[in-house]
Amino acid sequence: MCGIVGAIAEKNIVPVLIDGLLCLEYRGYDSAGLVISNKGLQRIRTTGRVAELAKKVTEHHTNGFAGIAHTRWATHGEPSERNAHPHISGHESRIAVVHNGIIENHEAMRKRLQAEGYQFESETDTEVIVHLIASNLKKTDSLLKAVSMSIAELQGAYAIAVMEEIHPERIVVARNGAPLLLGLGEDGNYAASDASALLKKTRDMIYLEDGDLAELYKDQYQIYQSKEGNLGQAITRPIHHSDLTSDDIDMGPYDHFMQKEIFEQPSAVANTLEMVFNAQSVSPGLFGSAAESIFEQTNGLLILACGTSYHAGLVARYWLETFAGIPCIVEIASEYRYRDPVADAHTLVVGISQSGETADTLAAMNYAKELGHLHSLSICNVAESALIRQTDLRFLTRAGPEIGVASTKAFTTQLASLLLLTIVLAKMRNRLSVEHEAKMIAALRHLPAALQSTLQIEPEAQEWSQQFSEKRHALFLGRGVHYPIAMEGALKLKEISYVHAEAYASGELKHGPLALVDSEMPVVAIAPNDQLLSKLKSNLQEVRARGGELYVFADADTQIEESDNLHVIRLAEHAGILSPILHTIPLQLLAYHVALVKGTDVDKPRNLAKAVTVE
Ligand code: M6R
Repeated sequence: MCGIVGAIAEKNIVPVLIDGLLCLEYRGYDSAGLVISNKGLQRIRTTGRVAELAKKVTEHHTNGFAGIAHTRWATHGEPSERNAHPHISGHESRIAVVHNGIIENHEAMRKRLQAEGYQFESETDTEVIVHLIASNLKKTDSLLKAVSMSIAELQGAYAIAVMEEIHPERIVVARNGAPLLLGLGEDGNYAASDASALLKKTRDMIYLEDGDLAELYKDQYQIYQSKEGNLGQAITRPIHHSDLTSDDIDMGPYDHFMQKEIFEQPSAVANTLEMVFNAQSVSPGLFGSAAESIFEQTNGLLILACGTSYHAGLVARYWLETFAGIPCIVEIASEYRYRDPVADAHTLVVGISQSGETADTLAAMNYAKELGHLHSLSICNVAESALIRQTDLRFLTRAGPEIGVASTKAFTTQLASLLLLTIVLAKMRNRLSVEHEAKMIAALRHLPAALQSTLQIEPEAQEWSQQFSEKRHALFLGRGVHYPIAMEGALKLKEISYVHAEAYASGELKHGPLALVDSEMPVVAIAPNDQLLSKLKSNLQEVRARGGELYVFADADTQIEESDNLHVIRLAEHAGILSPILHTIPLQLLAYHVALVKGTDVDKPRNLAKAVTVE
């Protein structure tokens, strides 16, 4: 979703802005632009890629010591140069703004500003921000105060960066509900939507909080908390030294980030589980110092998440209810936030998110708190994200940066973390013997190696990909804990290859979807050798009897033989509790190779964004 980079330094900052935007490309965008201060504000925008913007910048010999830049993911108004940021207002002292988020009261604000005489050039909600600041700047001589007054009038989520033509020595930034951080460099100061954009310049970052405003100069910065339009006292925020290096966001020898991230899963899971590798048992403290007392009061779980993270929650429900005997509800965050659920104070709310910035998940977590849920836990891959900061308990998946829009290693590390949570809760509820816990921990220790060997099936998945690329639809079937894995497989395929795919619990086939089955509808089945295998086999017979073509991911000890219209890829022997994690790998590989055959943009599929920071 939109990305922001701002820079003010002792030397030309155009390369910093362009490099920063390139690093933010993964978030998803459809146009890009920048404003540089050099004898006035110089604006360049494009509907193409950042590379196109860089070309234009070179052609115009654009350079300067201060600038703000943006990648736009269209929400209000089509992707076009006119709608691309920065937006500019004012005549005598022009102002430029870049914005990430959505301004919900933009229609009312637009009417008011038009009545004041401001002319709108775009259809965006962002343009109201720049005119509003220009309007408020008539009432004060300080850009900082004008921004503070303006954000008090805005409803919605935003991260903004603002420049003023007559004061090129300063950039003002503000955030509320959308990510923004400051980077403190040796030769200048910077701002960006995420740390990856600034790693070539600095690893010293300050993560702004909601309501923060900051003024950046090349050699100093100051942060304020704005309340109802009043600038409070200057405040300090901690400086974090990022562990990331620019190599972490490098593709290395791979062709795509998604491919790299699929193959990084053994090490991502090993990092996430590092603390249990030498332990004989796991303790609640893994989830935070207050975890033991909170878990003691917990009588149920409510998991809130979106997309792939929601699928992780669905898998966890099977584990938590089976092993810990604790009731668990899993809800799509965007649905939960708009219904009237009955809250139980002692149901622990668990937010799962790779980015920790997904607007619907954050809003659903806040809503659960308003409804009376007392405690919350986040499972997240970004240490300084809004989600991690707002929950009582937290577990950081250590997958490393995930750049491909399709979530892969984030999902498997979420599952590994949720298995740890299951073990802890099962123990606390006296549902797990010492021996059983030791067995589960041993299984977790084996997980990285098991993932490594599962990745070996890649050539077989690649062989199947040609057939899928020729189809328009596919059905994915699973049962029990593997049903959410089928959902994840279908999401991966549609997301990156644009082949329409749906997942069903295979017992549901004859209640409707069987009508779709013919030779044009490949049917993928996840067939582990578990207690539901015989049921699944009967469902597969129903498909075969209707002329359907089956593609089965089976365990080595599953008795399913290849024949006409029945293709089998075998994993290792049944992996017990780890099985859903391992069965995810071939589905990721299949989707990846189908996308390659179809020639889609694997890492940046059309219309999608990595961090969905708007509703
Ligand atoms: O950052 P989050 O985990 O909160 O993101 C939620 C979804 O947007 C995300 O999982 C999405 O479904 C993935 N792109 C799917 O691969």
